[in-house]
Amino acid sequence: MCGIVGYVGPRDATPILVDGLRRLEYRGYDSAGVAVIAGNGIERRRAPGKLRNLEAVLETSPVSGHIGVGHTRWATHGRPSEENAHPHSDVSGRLVVVHNGIIENYLELKERLVAQGVVFETETDTEVVAHLVASYYEGSLEQATARAAGELRGIYSLVLMHAGEPDRLVATRLGPPLVVGIGEDAHFFASDVQALLAHTRRFVFIPERTIAVIQAGSLRIVDAQGKPEPFREETILWDPVQAEKGGYRHFMLKEIHEQPRAVRDTLLGRMSLDTGDVHLEEMGPQALAVIEKAERIQFLACGTSWHAGLVGQFFMEQLAGVPASTDYASEFRYRDPVVSKGTLVVAISQSGETADTLAAMREARSRGASVLAITNVAGSQVTREADGALLTHAGPEIGVASTKAFTAQVAAIALLAVFLGRRKGALSAAAGRNLLASLARVPQLMDHALSCAGLVEEMSRSLFKATDFLFLGRGVQYPIALEGALKLKEISYIHAEGYPAGEMKHGPIALIDESLPVVALIPRGRGYDKILSNVQEVKARGGRVVAVINVGDDHVRKVLGKDDWIIEVPGVEVDVLGVSEIFSPFVTVIPLQLLAYHVALRAGRDVDQPRNLAKSVTVE
Ligand code: M6R
Repeated sequence: MCGIVGYVGPRDATPILVDGLRRLEYRGYDSAGVAVIAGNGIERRRAPGKLRNLEAVLETSPVSGHIGVGHTRWATHGRPSEENAHPHSDVSGRLVVVHNGIIENYLELKERLVAQGVVFETETDTEVVAHLVASYYEGSLEQATARAAGELRGIYSLVLMHAGEPDRLVATRLGPPLVVGIGEDAHFFASDVQALLAHTRRFVFIPERTIAVIQAGSLRIVDAQGKPEPFREETILWDPVQAEKGGYRHFMLKEIHEQPRAVRDTLLGRMSLDTGDVHLEEMGPQALAVIEKAERIQFLACGTSWHAGLVGQFFMEQLAGVPASTDYASEFRYRDPVVSKGTLVVAISQSGETADTLAAMREARSRGASVLAITNVAGSQVTREADGALLTHAGPEIGVASTKAFTAQVAAIALLAVFLGRRKGALSAAAGRNLLASLARVPQLMDHALSCAGLVEEMSRSLFKATDFLFLGRGVQYPIALEGALKLKEISYIHAEGYPAGEMKHGPIALIDESLPVVALIPRGRGYDKILSNVQEVKARGGRVVAVINVGDDHVRKVLGKDDWIIEVPGVEVDVLGVSEIFSPFVTVIPLQLLAYHVALRAGRDVDQPRNLAKSVTVE
């Protein structure tokens, strides 16, 4: 939520800030703003709405300088307006701040400052930071920031600039991430590395409760007392081109099509098809020991990552024989969870910075659990707090609706389950070989599944007029039904529910009539006959079905009528007794992602930046 960028160096700061904001816009797009030091003072330009509005302002009222900060906002306190847009300024206009997070005690601080005569101009919590730091300023922004940070409660990453110190930016954080990018002759701040990949691959992740000071040629990090804090430089290998649309109309569409590659890269080098073993040595001996000891798995995640956990529950129980459960991270710590000895918490987070997931991890750890993170972002906060991290290699995911990160997470969990199954003796070498051979075929089958894109686009012509959808699945397809419903909701704003098909007769069947499309996931496997009966029940009540079936399944066609739609995806066969359909989610999710995309497009929605949402949810 909210994106921050800062630059100090020899070039004109404004285009660098705007470019950084464009790459961070997925974090929030309620308003945007920049401030640069020009001459002896600070110039601010801000605009409500998307970044293009700020660009228009900059065209009519340009500003340039060699140092500046920028911000793209996801509103928490105060409506999205120009006055509430960051950067926020102190009364003198010589100090500005950009902020990601929430200052919980802002009212208390505001009352104090108002009593001292400070006049506030905005409804935001952030403005208080500008005035507080200014009230302590005696010629050193670094010292004033350190003093003010000691009084802030809540979560924040902050970057500050003062006209009296035109050669440096100062930052501090507690919670939301902030990185320093190290360039040849310049230094940068940003909320994440994607904003800076065009300039550098060299990054330093700023530790919490420290003060970071960048100048064109240097970075210094100190603790709250001003004592130098050691830091480590990391090289991020993501290719900047991966963060571009590459000819696709939207990032989401590109990312849907990238899934075979994302899954292939996540599996790559981790499977031994000869021995049936999974190799996770990259995680280090300590992490491997923690995994091997697991007697129970507790997945913790939010949104789409939570759905990956639900799929993972099937993998863990069926392949590794290890009991597993999945909790919403946002609920976990509010129900006094019992974390038994031997519980391995697996926190799943694409961004690695979701506040609820981090809070749940901490809660689990305080109750004695070991924690493993599955994330797409190397160096992200979850990796710093976990005992080990299993990285997915989806590459940067920009579309707010998660697609390739999901299937890459499912691939990583599949590897973890086979690893555990082999270590615990639940899987023979032959079974391991079989499962891994099947996983190795998945990217190709996903490629094949993508060929339904034309048909799905065609279907969307009439489906986009529906006001509600029901998604049904059984067993391992149930989480996919949930995921299909979530995708549709978040980008088309059409109400949708995912349901376990067997539960339909216990309530939702009352909803069925000819206006409610029912999306049924019917690949071959354990639940096949049962879900087909559920589809008959829908048909008997005049419902219209969108069926996702395996290629060549003529039997389903006989059940369905000419008003129904059929999407074929390849079967993902596994020749291990009882689990033949276990990997089918990799392909059945694809038509649902495409359906959400095309329906949203026809409904005229902003697919990559749906209303009210942000890619990284760094507030609880
Ligand atoms: O970065 P995370 O995986 O922790 O994010 C979790 C959710 O916020 C995320 O999956 C969200 O539900 C997506 N918008 C779904 O498409």
